[in-house]
Amino acid sequence: MAAEKSKILVIGGTGYIGKFVVEASAKAGHPTFALVRESTVADPLKGQLLDSFKNSGVTFVHGDLNDHESLVKAIKQVDVVISTVGNMQIPDQTKIIAAIKEAGNVKKFFPSEFGTDVDHHNAVEPACSTYAGKKLIRRAIEAEGIPYAYVSCNCFAGYFLPTLVQPGVTTPPRDKVTILGDGSAKVVFNEEHDIGTYTIKAVDDPRTLNKILYIKPPKNTCSFNELVSLWEKKIGKSLEKNYVPEEQVLKLIQESEFPINLILAINHSIFVNGDLTNFEIEPSFGVEASELYPDVKYTTVEEYLERFV
Ligand SMILES: NC(=O)c1ccc[n+]([C@@H]2O[C@H](COP(=O)([O-])OP(=O)(O)OC[C@H]3O[C@@H](n4cnc5c(N)ncnc54)[C@H](OP(=O)(O)O)[C@@H]3O)[C@@H](O)[C@H]2O)c1
Repeated sequence: MAAEKSKILVIGGTGYIGKFVVEASAKAGHPTFALVRESTVADPLKGQLLDSFKNSGVTFVHGDLNDHESLVKAIKQVDVVISTVGNMQIPDQTKIIAAIKEAGNVKKFFPSEFGTDVDHHNAVEPACSTYAGKKLIRRAIEAEGIPYAYVSCNCFAGYFLPTLVQPGVTTPPRDKVTILGDGSAKVVFNEEHDIGTYTIKAVDDPRTLNKILYIKPPKNTCSFNELVSLWEKKIGKSLEKNYVPEEQVLKLIQESEFPINLILAINHSIFVNGDLTNFEIEPSFGVEASELYPDVKYTTVEEYLERFV
């Protein structure tokens, strides 16, 4: 008899990446629960999303990170908790940890990660402190002995590819492109539905228990220079390239105000340092999603760019 699919609670399911995780969970046939704040139910902008969740059979549970009882009650109904709360709520996840401890039934907890592996990077400030918040949550989970998986999904395609990382534009450039550093560092971009799919595949997979799940499919791993050539080939035109040397990037970070300095520091880590790819995934701490789940037909960077031609 096939094992039953775990019941999944998503906290932050109405957020940018959370909605893809909720959708993937329901689609994969997991009994899916979304923690929804009272204020969000009343928000007309979120109404459409909540309707689509409802149509997918998602169960809403009312609650808030700041309401301990609501968290415990929600968590007791499920087997697995996935947090996709936003950057501002990262430290508040200690409240989820406390509720998981009290509930005592959680088989796997996925804290809100969904980016750079915060234990392997050389980011400068203020990105370094942002990553430190996620690192503290990892250490708290491990100290409490809560079973976990950390999803390191690298760059959201939707955040980086529609503009090719050019500030102040909404479509990829057709004349000039600015490249941080020398453009040779390998970077990874993943489409958001695929991030949801791989995350949900990891839920009942013992190979991901207490591991980092890296989403690093070979066809989505390329340097910025390779990305630009791919785009040039698609539009049949070569772009004028403006390389910004690292010293200048660092100076810009120091001279900029929040949040520009944070965005620049994250981009420096990704595109200049190559922090997404400059370490080996050791079996002791990590597994790679496209290797574990070769059946997933992920969207490649090349296919993704096609939509902007
Ligand atoms: N790899 C990348 O390229 C990339 C890019 C961006 C973000 N990320 C990462 O992805 C993760 C999720 O970020 P995001 O931008 O998707 O998040 P987001 O859009 O800001 O969504 C935040 C979610 O948390 C919920 N929330 C906020 N306060 C809450 C509270 N007090 N109680 C319960 N729920 C609360 C929000 O609910 P409401 O709908 O009710 O407001 C929303 O569902 C973060 O770890 C972030 O660092 C990665």
